[in-house]
Amino acid sequence: MTINGHTKTLGVIGCPIAHTLSPLIHNLLAQILDHNLVYVPFLVEKDLESAIKGARALQISGLNITIPYKTEVLKYVAEVDDFAQKIGAVNTLVPIENGFKAYNTDIPGLYRAMLSDGVVLKDESVIILGAGGAARSVAMLCMEKGADKVYILNRTLSKAQAIADEVNVLKGSELVVPIEIMDYKKLAGRKYLCIQATSVGMHPDVDSAVIEATEFYDLVHTGYDIVYNPCETKFMSLVKAHGGQAFNGLKMLLYQGIIAYELWNDVEISDDVADFVLSKLKEELNL
Ligand code: ATR
Repeated sequence: MTINGHTKTLGVIGCPIAHTLSPLIHNLLAQILDHNLVYVPFLVEKDLESAIKGARALQISGLNITIPYKTEVLKYVAEVDDFAQKIGAVNTLVPIENGFKAYNTDIPGLYRAMLSDGVVLKDESVIILGAGGAARSVAMLCMEKGADKVYILNRTLSKAQAIADEVNVLKGSELVVPIEIMDYKKLAGRKYLCIQATSVGMHPDVDSAVIEATEFYDLVHTGYDIVYNPCETKFMSLVKAHGGQAFNGLKMLLYQGIIAYELWNDVEISDDVADFVLSKLKEELNL
């Protein structure tokens, strides 16, 4: 590519940042679409506020925000998208007249990944494993997309209860039910879509799953793991061994990037382009 006086600069702010795959996604998209932009990592160790003000002053054309700043950055933006506000964490900043508008593309990214895999949330009975930030966001997504019932299974019941309370107040019904992991037998009698929303099973911890009890997996017709490394997590293997279909989080990573790129550049990325970028991500990760 040629960098010249018209080249736009975008990037990702985080700490640490060296392992980010976002430059690969966005520079590849720019190359395919013949857009004159570069996307670079910005290590911000402290003073996020100055970084955001500086990015504004430098007329940076778009930013991703990653760990540990996804919530803190909300203090420094001019506007927040409605769904992102509900989730309480953002990963994408789009320049607007008086600053940046913040979006969450992680969760819409998960939804688009599910759509592309033919996995439906509407009217579905969903089990969410875990009750951290990711699980909370997935519960919000289930509410937004019309799931019939959502069971949050977690080791610590109080954390699952807190998410359930929050979503149920927003929804005005008892959509979400918290259950302690060991009590999964309460769910017997039908099959569920199960979303694994913890980092358990992520490389190098590849021999772990949040629920090891194999009978649990008889309850799962589809398993969706937010982890993408390894390519098949222990959770996924257990789902498959019990006759279900299973997906990893790589497409979620892909689509959070694609949705951000679409927001910044006012374009729609085709399925063919998405598939090509996915193949490059797999190559990069040796998957
Ligand atoms: P976040 O989504 O906020 O980044 P995470 O650290 O990936 O969070 O995952 C946190 C969730 O995974 C928590 O619900 C945690 O259970 P507790 O609430 O009981 O702490 C769950 N978790 C983490 N390690 C676990 C393990 N070994 N077995 C079962 N659950 C575990």
